[in-house]
Amino acid sequence: MKLTATPGGPLTGEAAIPGDKSCSHRALILGAMANGETRVSGLLESDDVLATASALEGFGARIERSSGDWMIRGGPWQSPDTPVDCGNSGTAARLLMGVVAGMAGVRATFTGDDSLSSRPMGRVTAPLGRMGAKFGGSERLPIAVEGSRLGGIDHRNVPASAQVKSAILLAGLGTDAPVRVIETIPSRDHSEIMLAQFGCSVAVDDTPEGWIISLGDRRSLAGAQLTIGADPSSAAFPMVAAAIVPGSEAMVRGMLVNPLRTGLYEAMETMGANIELSNERIQSGEIIADVRVCQMPLGPCHVRPEHIPAMIDEIPALAVACAFADGESVIEGLAELRVKESDRLGAIVAGLTACGVTALVDGDALRIFGRGKVRGGASIATSGDHRIAMAFLTLGLAAERPVEVDEAEMIGTSFPSFVEVMRSIGANIG
Ligand code: S3P
Repeated sequence: MKLTATPGGPLTGEAAIPGDKSCSHRALILGAMANGETRVSGLLESDDVLATASALEGFGARIERSSGDWMIRGGPWQSPDTPVDCGNSGTAARLLMGVVAGMAGVRATFTGDDSLSSRPMGRVTAPLGRMGAKFGGSERLPIAVEGSRLGGIDHRNVPASAQVKSAILLAGLGTDAPVRVIETIPSRDHSEIMLAQFGCSVAVDDTPEGWIISLGDRRSLAGAQLTIGADPSSAAFPMVAAAIVPGSEAMVRGMLVNPLRTGLYEAMETMGANIELSNERIQSGEIIADVRVCQMPLGPCHVRPEHIPAMIDEIPALAVACAFADGESVIEGLAELRVKESDRLGAIVAGLTACGVTALVDGDALRIFGRGKVRGGASIATSGDHRIAMAFLTLGLAAERPVEVDEAEMIGTSFPSFVEVMRSIGANIG
């Protein structure tokens, strides 16, 4: 399916952003591991999260939607009859492999779509293997996992990956051996926060060695009630659109503003964007706030590698903001972008170039030479990557000429209501 974004007037109003994807996967998984019932409000109902839900049903969890909330009843896990299809979702595959690795008596084979089957899995099978986990295959899906009682681990999480950290912590729930993950650059901490909501003891210590995340003595989970905040990675698109389309002013209510997720917003502030947070509060252990963005002329940014994990999924959106800035932006430390849903570094440079923006890859860095305006008028190959599709549609809203993207159905993996939400603030996408 193709979609086209056509430049138009200012974007105004409230963008209703669905629940955070990382937290939604974790809420389902922890709910299925917990004793008793878990109720989740604001769960993201996207293809990736629904892949996790049906995988968990295969492991024996009972999951149902009732009056807009999701109820999950955990219980003893069983081996599914068929392979576990994780679709496009790296989070589903890596976290669930961790869980199964630590569940003695359970076995499963994990599969995924072409994109997921080409992504590296050695980053989880290697540390889990050091804990004693047994795998058939290790580098790429399909991978068979045979659950067993694991030993402990001290794992240095380099490059900083929340999926790897989470796989280890989840595997560690099945043992009482010491399980520690050490990070010098922190990755998103939703697993740590949510495990505590389920009654599990997780400590985070700031030491000269780095942050040490360790599982404590209490490793059994009790059903919880959770409300999930709006996803800052999805909000990135209307927020960047409001920052670049002249005269715009848009807001998102109840957005997750966990500091390990707000790197895009901080980078945009250094570019001169007008971003205001209000009504900060704690919801299910996470900080949320209302966020308002008004259009302003943007300058360039220089992002250093240590800031990348807090904006890892927002680089396509940030690249669009940089294209409309006046001057040369440099975003360093982007090696991980090559192994996301597509080679995002390549896709960003190819797309920007097609839209008349000078951009290049310099080692692991991206250099974008903004001129304050963008020609557009291109048809973008998204390589089946949802965030590349949404980023270039966002660009098309502020360009001189419309921008078309292919494989737009992939937007459903993370933000199925994207078109509707963007139209609700005045965007012309169809
Ligand atoms: C995620 C972690 C990040 C991110 C992904 C979701 C998570 O991946 O890119 O979209 O939910 O833990 P890495 O952990 O591989 O950086």
